[in-house]
Amino acid sequence: MKPAHTFSSLLALVSLVVGLPGLQPKDLNTRALRLPLERRNNQVSMEGLRMQLEQVPAKYHRGFAAYEANTGHAHPLSKNAGSKKKRDDGNDPLTAEGANLWYASIDVGSPAQAFTVIIDTGSSDIVLPSVECGVSCDGHNKYDPSTSSTAVDLGKPFVLAYLTGNVEGEQFADNVAIGGYTAVGQTLGAATIYSPTFSSTTFKPDGLAGFAFEDISVYQASPLFQTLVQSGQLPEAVFGVKLSTTAGASELYVGGTNTTLYQQNTLTYIPVTVPAYWQITLDQVSRAGVQVGTSEAVSIIDTGTSLIVTDTATAASYYNDIPGAILQESSEGLYSIPCDIIENYAPTLTFGGRPFNVSGETFNLGPIEDGSSDCLAGIGASSGIEGWLVGDVFLQNVYSVFDTDQLRVGFAELA
Ligand SMILES: *[C@@H]1O[C@H](CO)[C@@H](O)[C@H](O)[C@H]1NC(C)=O
Ligand SMILES: *[C@@H]1O[C@H](CO)[C@@H](O)[C@H](O)[C@H]1NC(C)=O
Repeated sequence: MKPAHTFSSLLALVSLVVGLPGLQPKDLNTRALRLPLERRNNQVSMEGLRMQLEQVPAKYHRGFAAYEANTGHAHPLSKNAGSKKKRDDGNDPLTAEGANLWYASIDVGSPAQAFTVIIDTGSSDIVLPSVECGVSCDGHNKYDPSTSSTAVDLGKPFVLAYLTGNVEGEQFADNVAIGGYTAVGQTLGAATIYSPTFSSTTFKPDGLAGFAFEDISVYQASPLFQTLVQSGQLPEAVFGVKLSTTAGASELYVGGTNTTLYQQNTLTYIPVTVPAYWQITLDQVSRAGVQVGTSEAVSIIDTGTSLIVTDTATAASYYNDIPGAILQESSEGLYSIPCDIIENYAPTLTFGGRPFNVSGETFNLGPIEDGSSDCLAGIGASSGIEGWLVGDVFLQNVYSVFDTDQLRVGFAELA
């Protein structure tokens, strides 16, 4: 069996005001909340996707290192993570935007300070720009704990390594509201130095919020969703995700699933094998009915990653006999397929015994440059990865359910 890995993905949330004076606690106990997710635009760029793909090993390395620090043993997938060389030029704009990510809003502190964050099922911590951050945070909303009556300085620094440079700052506990729910005393990182990865010229959200498990928390703290679960506010310890390029159609559903968005008789659950990432077994990947790669590979479900990503050899075998398929970089990275045929070569991923098709439309990420007849394909190759990181190219085709109580992921056909 191949270990898989991943990246991370991002979603967004919408904010309501902390406190909800009009609601009784009882009402909250019975309500799941729907949070629209936003995306900046429908354009992806090859540069944006390439940059995101290059960051995948570093992202996973951060999570694996945190796992080892938190649990005292190495994560089973950690062998190759982070082995990729750093880019030597630190000047590349980092472009989550061109990589097509979803985000939303949260409110932090008392009174509320509003932020947009990528909601990332491939990590577990909240990162926001601090009011003490200089030029590297320009253009973003900045968290000011001195004006929040509920902020507590935890006196602990944090450092997150990105390819383009570190994110560094101080940990605080404060109230974080997501929809109508408030996580009291939620640990978050206020960054005094922001990586170019988060430059406001290329990264529209202010920060990110991790929705994986505590074992990969760099802060060694309960992630936002787990804090909400532990507080007893949610009807179910579950969140549901729908990602769409159609404006207004994406949502994060906190405390349950929105049953109008999927075909309930197709909902298929897969157990989480190691509750650190949302790590599950991928039965097989096929293309035009032919299996590619090994059966029963490890996969990580990552809303904060745009592509489906696999190791270089498996990716090569996927594209091997597709006429005109080209690896855009020397040994790993993005592949293109002639635009007139690319949609015939989308994959099918089988989870829990049920095949889920990736549509030609989501597999085709568009021309490699304006006017080109070669189009970017939705499976990327990374030497720092084994198995599969299952990002938004797949997740747009299904309704996804993340269940922290029964430790399982569910996928269903969209309604
Ligand atoms: C479920 O999704 C639909 C479509 O986005 C929305 O209109 C509806 O309000 C949602 N249901 C709930 C209970 O939030
Ligand atoms: C998935 O694709 C296969 C092959 O094109 C097709 O037979 C099948 O009906 C599709 N499944 C769904 C649920 O659309």
